[in-house]
Amino acid sequence: MIQKPRGTMDILPDEVGIWQHVEKTAREVAELFGFREIRTPAFEATELFQRGVGDTTDVVQKEMYTFADKEGRSYTLRPEGTASVVRALIENGKCSNLMPQKLYYLINCFRYEKPQAGRSREFFQFGTEMFGAADASADADIIALANTLLMRLGVSDIHLHINSIGCPECRPNHRQALKDYFASYKDDLCETCRERLDKNPMRILDCKSPVCSEIAKGAPKTLDYLCPECTSHFDKLKATLDAMGIEYTIDANIVRGLDYYTRTVFEFIAPVIGAQSTVCGGGRYDGLMKELGGPQLPGIGFAMGLTRVILAMKSSKVALPQAPSPRLYIASMGDKAQKKAAEIVSRLRTDGIFAEYDLVGRSLKAQMKYADRQNARFTLIIGDCEIESGRAVIKDMQNSEQSEIALNDTAAIAKAVL
Ligand code: HAM
Repeated sequence: MIQKPRGTMDILPDEVGIWQHVEKTAREVAELFGFREIRTPAFEATELFQRGVGDTTDVVQKEMYTFADKEGRSYTLRPEGTASVVRALIENGKCSNLMPQKLYYLINCFRYEKPQAGRSREFFQFGTEMFGAADASADADIIALANTLLMRLGVSDIHLHINSIGCPECRPNHRQALKDYFASYKDDLCETCRERLDKNPMRILDCKSPVCSEIAKGAPKTLDYLCPECTSHFDKLKATLDAMGIEYTIDANIVRGLDYYTRTVFEFIAPVIGAQSTVCGGGRYDGLMKELGGPQLPGIGFAMGLTRVILAMKSSKVALPQAPSPRLYIASMGDKAQKKAAEIVSRLRTDGIFAEYDLVGRSLKAQMKYADRQNARFTLIIGDCEIESGRAVIKDMQNSEQSEIALNDTAAIAKAVL
C-alpha cells in the first residue's frame, strides 16, 4: 500500500466544504479591504529564502524541502509566501505602482517539521501583504483584516498579541544585550544556537529546543531598546487599534521566527487548539524589498494557517456549511426514459440547476432511496407511461406536494424546482 508522505493530508469530500467556506470568506474579506490576489510558483530558487527568510532561521536551517533539478540548480518548495510575493513585484516591475499595493494569496507551503496537531509538512496559508505604507495605520489595517476574517469565521476565544522588535537603528543595542545574556549560558545552548550567538542571537529566542526556550525566557526584551521613532510607531499602532475597538495584549516574547521583520510583529493565538496555537502571524518588513534587490519599499503582512483556523472554528462550535444537494433527481425505468432523463438534466444543468439521474441501472426503489440519501429536494419519475403521454409528476420531497408538467417543457420543470 503506497501511503501519503508523513505530515501531509488528504482533504476528503466530507471535509472539503469547510475549507471552501474558509477560502471563500478569506477572499471576500481581502477584497473588502481592497486586496487583489497574486499567485506565484510553488518552488523558487533556494537563495530567495536564504536571503529573504534568513539563513540563521529554523525555517532555512532545518525545515526546507530543497532539491537539485536535473541541471543541478538548487530549488526549494516554498516554506512561506512573503519572499515570493516580494520577488514577483521586483521581477515584474510592479514596485512603482500606485501605493499602497495590497495583495493576498491562498497557498500550500512546505516545512520539514515534526508533525503534530496543527503542524504538518505541507500546510495551507491565507496571506496578505501591503507595500508602500510605512505609517502605523497600515499595521492596524492589516491586523483589522485578520481580525475581521476570524470574526466572520466565528472563531471566538482568540487573542491578539503585539510587540515591536525595532529597526536597524535600535536593533544593535538589543543585539548586544542578547549576546551578553546568552554568552553566560553558552555551554547549555543547542549547537545551532551556539552558532547563532555570534551571527544572529535573536533567533535563539524562537529555538524549539526545550533548554534554549527555557533560557530565552529571561532574555532582554526588544521593547526596552526601541528608538524614539519605533516607540512612536508602536504608540500610534496601539492608539489606532484602540480606536478600531480591537483588543490586544502587549507581548514582549513575540519575536517571530523569520528574519525580515522590523518594528511591529503580531500573532493571533487560540489556546484551545493545543500546543500549536498561533493561528495567524505577521508583521512589518521594511527592509525585505531592498534585501532582495528592489527599491526601498516598506511592507507589512500576515499569514493565517488554515488547518489551525479550522481547528479553532470547530472548537468554537461554528455551524459548518452543508454540502450542496440536488434540486431535482429524475428516476427512470427503461432505456427511453433514461434518455429523456439525460436530456432534461442536461438542459437544467445548462441553466445552472443541480440535477441528477440514474447512471448505474438501479431499480426504481433503489433510485428513490439514492435520491433521499442525496437529499434531493424534488423528484420526477419517468417510465413507459410518462414517455407515451409526455407528462410526469414532480414531487416536492419536503412537503409531498405534487404537480404535473410536460416533459418537453424544460422551462416549466426549471421553474417548478427552483
Ligand atoms: P509564519 O509564522 O511562519 O509566518 O506562518 C504563519 C502561520 O502559518 C502560522 O501562524 C501558522 O498558523 C501557519 N503555519 C506555519 N507553519 C505551519 C505548519 N508546519 N503546519 C501548519 N501550519 C503552519 C509566515 O509564514 C510569514 N510569511 C507571515 C507574514 C506574511 N509575515 C508578513 N507577511
